[in-house]
Amino acid sequence: MMMVSKILSLLQFFTLFTITFASTEEATALLKWKSTFNNENNSLLASWKQSSDTCNDWYGVVCFNGRVNRLNITNASVFGTLYDFPFLSLPFLEYLELSMNNFYGTIPPEIGSLTNLIYLDLNSNQISGTIPSQIGSLVKLQILRIFHNHLNGPIPGEIGYLRALAKLSLGRNFLNGSIPASLGNLNNLSYLYLHENQLSDSIPEEIGYIRSLTELTLSTNSLNGSIPASLGI
Ligand SMILES: *[C@@H]1O[C@H](CO)[C@@H](O)[C@H](O)[C@H]1NC(C)=O
Ligand SMILES: *[C@@H]1O[C@H](CO)[C@@H](O)[C@H](O)[C@H]1NC(C)=O
Ligand SMILES: *[C@@H]1O[C@H](CO)[C@@H](O)[C@H](O)[C@H]1NC(C)=O
Ligand SMILES: *[C@@H]1O[C@H](CO)[C@@H](O)[C@H](O)[C@H]1NC(C)=O
Ligand SMILES: *[C@@H]1O[C@H](CO)[C@@H](O)[C@H](O)[C@H]1NC(C)=O
Ligand SMILES: *[C@@H]1O[C@H](CO)[C@@H](O)[C@H](O)[C@H]1NC(C)=O
Repeated sequence: MMMVSKILSLLQFFTLFTITFASTEEATALLKWKSTFNNENNSLLASWKQSSDTCNDWYGVVCFNGRVNRLNITNASVFGTLYDFPFLSLPFLEYLELSMNNFYGTIPPEIGSLTNLIYLDLNSNQISGTIPSQIGSLVKLQILRIFHNHLNGPIPGEIGYLRALAKLSLGRNFLNGSIPASLGNLNNLSYLYLHENQLSDSIPEEIGYIRSLTELTLSTNSLNGSIPASLGI
């Protein structure tokens, strides 16, 4: 009996130790990213420091089992890029909300490493370049918003792999090329916002086969052809 409880408390000790260690690594990685911001002493992120408890004291950070689960710094006046975002150090991240800041530069392909992401919101920043095809690895994503940025190039067909997606918002960018027919694979999609881009060619009939679709915006593009009959079914 004594032995068992000793083993148990030893186990508890090691679990605690592992958890503390893990979040220290995550904290260090996040601080490294923060140090690349143009306005590093942003007042909202002043709580992000090595001496404070990442899980309890850092603005916008929520942990689960001692690991960073949610990072929400919406509307926090951050000027910076995603180049040093710790994509490889936050394996348990599920919610990433960076909307309404001044993030610029491109989306690194390493974003595809955040395979537990359920929610990704980069709305209303100045992000440019193309959407990396690696985004197709984020198979748990339910919400993907990169509305109102400076993205260009095509919508990667790999977005069609995101079978859990319920909301996709890529409006108000400079996306061009055709709407990928693979979006028709997104059986759980209810909102598809693609308005105010430079999308061309015709609307793929596959879009009309998405049973759950309740809102579709395609205005202000360069689409041609006719509206597929499938949309009316
Ligand atoms: C950041 O802090 C430094 C001194 O610590 C100060 O000179 C600078 O003006 C501050 N920048 C901003 C954007 O607050
Ligand atoms: C982020 O925080 C804002 C309020 O500051 C809230 O409205 C929003 O829902 C949060 N996003 C997530 C993903 O938790
Ligand atoms: C963003 O933050 C500013 C204060 O810094 C506030 O006035 C504004 O209402 C916020 N906007 C939203 C949409 O939350
Ligand atoms: C689609 O949505 C339903 C109901 O919300 C859910 O049960 C199902 O798991 C979702 N499918 C995927 C692939 O996420
Ligand atoms: C999309 O725009 C880029 C420049 O941003 C251009 O090089 C490319 O040819 C365009 N593609 C289409 C299909 O219009
Ligand atoms: C739509 O435009 C593309 C070029 O972007 C052209 O190849 C195609 O023939 C046009 N289709 C119709 C139905 O006008």
